Amino acid sequence: MKTTGRDFFWGSATSAHQIEGGNHNDWSEWELKSAKVEAQNAEKKNWPEYILKTYPNPLQEKNYISGAACDHYNRFREDFDIAKSLGHNAHRFSIEWSRIEPEEGKFNEQEIEHYREVIRALRKRGMEPFVTLWHWTLPVWFSERGGWLHPQAGEAFTRFVSRIVDEYKDDVRFWGVYNEPETFARHGYFRGDRPPGYGWRIFSYYRVLKVLVETYIQTYKAIKKIDSKAQVGISESLVYFNSYSRMPLHLIALRIVRWWRNNPFLEEYIAHSDYIGFQYYFHSRIRRNPWKSQWGIQYNENKSVSDFGWEIYPEGIYQILKQLGKYHKPIYITENGLADSRDEKRANFIKEHIRYTRKAVSEGVDVRGYFHWSLLDNFEWNKGFWPRFGLVEIDYRTLERKVRGSALEYKKIINTETKK
Ligand code: BGC
Repeated sequence: MKTTGRDFFWGSATSAHQIEGGNHNDWSEWELKSAKVEAQNAEKKNWPEYILKTYPNPLQEKNYISGAACDHYNRFREDFDIAKSLGHNAHRFSIEWSRIEPEEGKFNEQEIEHYREVIRALRKRGMEPFVTLWHWTLPVWFSERGGWLHPQAGEAFTRFVSRIVDEYKDDVRFWGVYNEPETFARHGYFRGDRPPGYGWRIFSYYRVLKVLVETYIQTYKAIKKIDSKAQVGISESLVYFNSYSRMPLHLIALRIVRWWRNNPFLEEYIAHSDYIGFQYYFHSRIRRNPWKSQWGIQYNENKSVSDFGWEIYPEGIYQILKQLGKYHKPIYITENGLADSRDEKRANFIKEHIRYTRKAVSEGVDVRGYFHWSLLDNFEWNKGFWPRFGLVEIDYRTLERKVRGSALEYKKIINTETKK
């Protein structure tokens, strides 16, 4: 797939905490506190046999503790060899802030060298690094003093970002300052099921969103000062919402839900970005009687779902791409994927989402990359290890890697599209 004559980036995405292993941050602390309760809560659900067969499974406490994860920290070269063999020419990953700055203001030189090696390993294999600077995990010192709501939060983060960009500017062109700021704020300050674990704090939820966008603008300027050619943006998960009908009630509900869930500050981010990082997972309809429904005002048709119960709705990627087209900025699909431990639906999922992406491109939307979530099975936050999102399967007993059939189908698509 070529857009406006440029090459297209094909690859997959990961994040440090979900695959590296051996991290010590606010999440690793949260896991130790919550694993037992998560496992107990899981007992109340009805799990299909094939999920209970996964190791670890949702009923086991160890499922909820990231621990050694995929040991990608030590095996990144091997993993990049696999990505390369699958035809990827780019890779999105994140740098773990808690490794680089384990104590406030004290930077760990060894860890800085580690990520330099990671970046160089990608370059050596001809893969463009897309570097995420914050994928949700926080150094313990930062979270303990109040996280993003501490008055010096923005300053501290900008100092970290400036140091990193200065270190790697010769090897990195694409910086993603945040991964899904809205998802972070919603889980941490409204649902309360992820760190810092506050439920229903609507004002803090909003305040965090605001601090994040203000900090982003600060970091954008700082990065550009260090390297004016850097391509800087964020990635946000955008849901394709449509309404039950054209009735004013439904249209109003649609506007409100879309505005909030797709990040009320989205336009501000885009205005200060060189590209748009778009992650697509969901489609939702507004209910017939939005204000009276018991289960919330959105629902899915769920004709086909992933192991997670998430609806598979490829057309939504096209609809959102069309909506984003109006900003006239390059778009990278920085995540799109599904939990599918039996690898039954992934190949078709990829094929269909790329088909709809191609349709948007053929109608003039400037899409320049597709990153499948994820390269490896990984630690799916508060759900733990059982959801299998990888193009590559991980045996968590031996850490053996096994390429899934769908990864080879994705490779075929890349080959065909690259020849076009
Ligand atoms: C996040 C990933 C996560 C994936 C699947 C995205 O929202 O960026 O960290 O694993 O969704 O839930």
